[in-house]
Amino acid sequence: MEKFLEISANWLLESKKIGILTGAGISKESGIPTFRGEDGLWKNYSATELATPQAFQKNPTLVWEWYLWRRKLVKEKKPNAAHYALVDLKNLKSQTELITQNVDGLHRRSGFGKHTEMHGYLFRDVCTNCTFIQEDIESNEKIPHCPQCQAMMRPGVVWFGEMIPQKALTHLQQMAEVDLLLVIGTSKTVYPAAGLVHYMQLNNKKVIEINPELSSQMIKNTLSLGFPAGEILPKIIEKLKSLIKT
Ligand code: OAD
Repeated sequence: MEKFLEISANWLLESKKIGILTGAGISKESGIPTFRGEDGLWKNYSATELATPQAFQKNPTLVWEWYLWRRKLVKEKKPNAAHYALVDLKNLKSQTELITQNVDGLHRRSGFGKHTEMHGYLFRDVCTNCTFIQEDIESNEKIPHCPQCQAMMRPGVVWFGEMIPQKALTHLQQMAEVDLLLVIGTSKTVYPAAGLVHYMQLNNKKVIEINPELSSQMIKNTLSLGFPAGEILPKIIEKLKSLIKT
């Protein structure tokens, strides 16, 4: 592992602009199930079945209940060592930017500051009819209705088949300009986020990927680290700190 820590820390040190892309795996050690893992099931429905506009149209109550369950689950969890290591990284390297595919808000709670939540925010309700939005309100059991137009509200997240907000897409495109991309806890099955990783690799730019499913190895400019993020990220940052001191 030491060799990989050394390379990662050196790459971070010599990179001016650093991009971070996170997925469900970064919150795994906080106790939040990933999307495609075995623990991603709720009442025998998979997340990918429920997170669609069609599922909400067919059975809004069922989908709403799933979101209430997820809100409750996430509220009880806390950011983990990986989330905090990224805050440390940003403090050490000021030109560090983060885009997350997660809706759990744990990067907010870790104190990372400005970042892009590509797929929305779990604790946001948006009106299905007008532009009304509300955040961080106490959940009730029934589907709320819009105080402005009385239409049904829906979770403020991006579902499969829906458009990513333009602002998030623009940030993702800008991320292609970074010197190094840190990719943490994503299966890279969902575009356009996965496209950024492929773009970096095709252009032989530096990528460090952290995911326990990978074997640790370096191929061209991609360093794959097969460890849980909460275990390896703090070690990389410690190494970086020691390099900065010397
Ligand atoms: P996935 O559930 O597809 O993948 C999570 C990845 O995290 C897997 O590859 C795991 O191996 C890895 N992992 C597990 N534990 C880890 C740990 N401790 N440290 C690091 N990695 C770990 O989640 P995403 O790639 O985020 O979109 O999924 C992308 C999008 O698909 C989600 O944002 C969501 C989903 O359906 C929408 O809802 C639109």
